[in-house]
Order: sequence, then structure tokens, then C-alpha cells
Amino acid sequence: MTATMRAVLCRRHGGPEALEPGATAMPQAGPGQVRIRVAACGINFPDLLLVAGRYQDRPPLPFIPGGEVSGLIDQLGAGVTALRVGQAVMAATMLGGLAEYVVAPAGDVEPLPAGLSAEEAAAFPGVYGTAYHALVQRAQLQPGETLLVLGAAGGTGIAAVQIGKALGARVLAAAGSDDKLAFLAARGADAAINYRKVALREALRAATGGGVDVVFDPVGGELFDQAARCLNWNGRLLVVGFASGSIGCLPANLALLKGYALVGVYYGRFRKEQPVLAAANARALRELIAAGRLRPPIHRIFPLGEAPAALACLQRREVMGKVVVSVGDLGDDMRASVEYQDALEDGVEASVFSG
Ligand SMILES: NC(=O)c1ccc[n+]([C@@H]2O[C@H](COP(=O)([O-])OP(=O)(O)OC[C@H]3O[C@@H](n4cnc5c(N)ncnc54)[C@H](OP(=O)(O)O)[C@@H]3O)[C@@H](O)[C@H]2O)c1
Repeated sequence: MTATMRAVLCRRHGGPEALEPGATAMPQAGPGQVRIRVAACGINFPDLLLVAGRYQDRPPLPFIPGGEVSGLIDQLGAGVTALRVGQAVMAATMLGGLAEYVVAPAGDVEPLPAGLSAEEAAAFPGVYGTAYHALVQRAQLQPGETLLVLGAAGGTGIAAVQIGKALGARVLAAAGSDDKLAFLAARGADAAINYRKVALREALRAATGGGVDVVFDPVGGELFDQAARCLNWNGRLLVVGFASGSIGCLPANLALLKGYALVGVYYGRFRKEQPVLAAANARALRELIAAGRLRPPIHRIFPLGEAPAALACLQRREVMGKVVVSVGDLGDDMRASVEYQDALEDGVEASVFSG
């Protein structure tokens, strides 16, 4: 008899209410894959788009959404040697995370960093990976440059704020409510702008005396159009996403006049095209976590059966940081695994020094 698991299924396209908590067959790890017993699953804007059938990829129905998870490896597929059963991990899975078990390619799975809870780890790999790739490879952000982050209290936005600060930039964080501004100021933004109250261009002129060097834009639409007029000479305008539901338009003469670049960011494709660089980015992010520079803020944790409410919260633009769905209570086993991994690494270092 096939073993079943609890999961949240999308059987028809629609809003968050289209999701149905239920049961389905437990997945098996194929060659090069691992199966993760899920502790927590981070909710992201692409989940809304996937459920609505409006994402660039349209998985066949029914499917299980959920693109970021933390948990414990419970099965290794053929050929996987770098990970072990019982190891605490986090992974950007794209789909399948809103379930008790998910299968992922071993290359997309990372050891759980010490210092992050299961919920924080489930809110990390996709959004911080995207923001790091955007700012480091795509924008080549330099210390002392000015970075404008739109939708800055959202998932990719807050990651860009924290990474921008860690890279030595002056970070201007823009969002749509005064509560979000207070949240951003408390998390290190050098200045915060409420773009529902003031015109972005004037606010930036007042804050900088000119323009900005890099724009991180996960919102698009009208805000993109305004930001495209606020770049300095040699600037970089990062196209990250379109949470507003509308795609901005760039009059090409603006890029000519300021000598600036429009730069696309597609983290999923980057990971496939440049896996070695993506792995190096993951290591750099782990060092920033260890140095205490990065920590995903958790807005609210929902139980698995309330996953539709977690997506609805994101849709209403209420979230500051991330919403996470708690799937299994694996915290003690995950902490024990991280301690074991640290001891293992310390042992290797000690034997290198003594040898
Ligand atoms: N390029 C890539 O590789 C990549 C990777 C991950 C995500 N993305 C894309 O980036 C975008 C943002 O993702 P995210 O995870 O940061 O989302 P998020 O956590 O929901 O944040 C998006 C922010 O956009 C703002 N917003 C403006 N108009 C909105 C609307 N009509 N509905 C919802 N939010 C609106 C909200 O801030 P205010 O209320 O403060 O305005 C919200 O905080 C999405 O389009 C996603 O698909 C792209």
C-alpha cells in the first residue's frame, strides 16, 4: 500500500481559497535527490502566482505549492553522498513544501546554518539567494553606493535591505505604510520612504541630493516608472518582480542619458545555469548569517491546515518580513543535528591542525 502524507493541494487555479488541505502519496527520492521531512515552509509571492496559474512556469494540476523549506533528510536517492539521513537542512524547492515530505535535488539542499530556527531557515534560501545574486552578480553593488529597495518590507525586499547593508551600501528602503517604515528603520535601513504618501522622486532627491546608484525592484508598475527616473550616472536598475501586477515601461532614452543599465534577475534560472557560482553565493550567505548580519524577520507562523490564510495575508500586503507555515515539530532533532555537524567540522579542523 502506498504511504500517504498530509499536504496542501492546488487542484484548480484561483486565489488562496483554491487551496485544499488533504492527503496525498508520499514522494520517493529519485537518483540525485533527497527526501526532506518538512519542519516549516516559507510562503512567497510566486506561490500566489503559481496557485493563480499566472507564474512563468505552470505545473500541471494538482500540485503542492511551497518553495522554501527546512527539515530533516529522511531518504537519500541513488548517488547522493554529500548529505546524510537525519541531517538538518534548508532548501529552495520551488514546489512541494506545503507537505510533510518533499523531494529535492541534492544540489539545492544546504545544511541548516547554526543560529537559525526551523521557521527562520524556511524563510531564507529563496529570498536571500535572490537578493544576494541580484546585488552581487547583477548589480555589482559597491561599498558606499546608494541602494534603493522597493517593496522593502516584503520577502525579497527585506533580504535586499540586510544584504545591501552587509555589503556596505547606504540603503534607502521604500514601502507602502508607516508601520512598514518603522519595521525597516528598526532593521538598519538608513532612510525609509512611504511611497503611498510621498512621490518617490522628490523623496529620493531630498534624501540623497541627487539619485541612487542601484534600484532593487520587486514591485514594478508605477513605482518602476518613477524609479527609472532616479538613477545616477552608471546606475543599475534591477528588474526582480512585479508584485503590483503590472510591468513597468522604460523609455530607452533614460538609460542613454544617465548611462545606466536595466538588469534582469532570475534566480531560478541562475541556479540552473551557474550552479557553482550559486553554491559559492550560498556559502557567502552562510558566513553572513554566522557573522550575525542576516536574519529573516518572521511576521507570523501558521499551522499547515491554515496555509490558505498565510497566502491571503501576503496577498493583502500585510506581511512585514515573511509568513511561514509550520508543518512538523522537528526543532529538537534539528538542533541536535546542527550541533553534531558543528562538532564534526570542529573535529576535522582540529585533526588538520594537529596533522
Ligand atoms: N526574479 C527572481 O528571481 C525572483 C525571485 C523571487 C521573487 N521574485 C518576484 O519578486 C516579487 C516580490 O516577491 P516577494 O517574495 O518579495 O513578495 P512579497 O513578500 O509579497 O513583497 C512584495 C511587496 O510588494 C509590494 N506590493 C505592491 N503592490 C502590491 C500588490 N498589488 N500586491 C502585493 N504586494 C504589493 C508590497 O509592499 P508595500 O505594501 O509596502 O508596497 C509587498 O511587501 C514577486 O513578483 C516575485 O515573483 C522574483
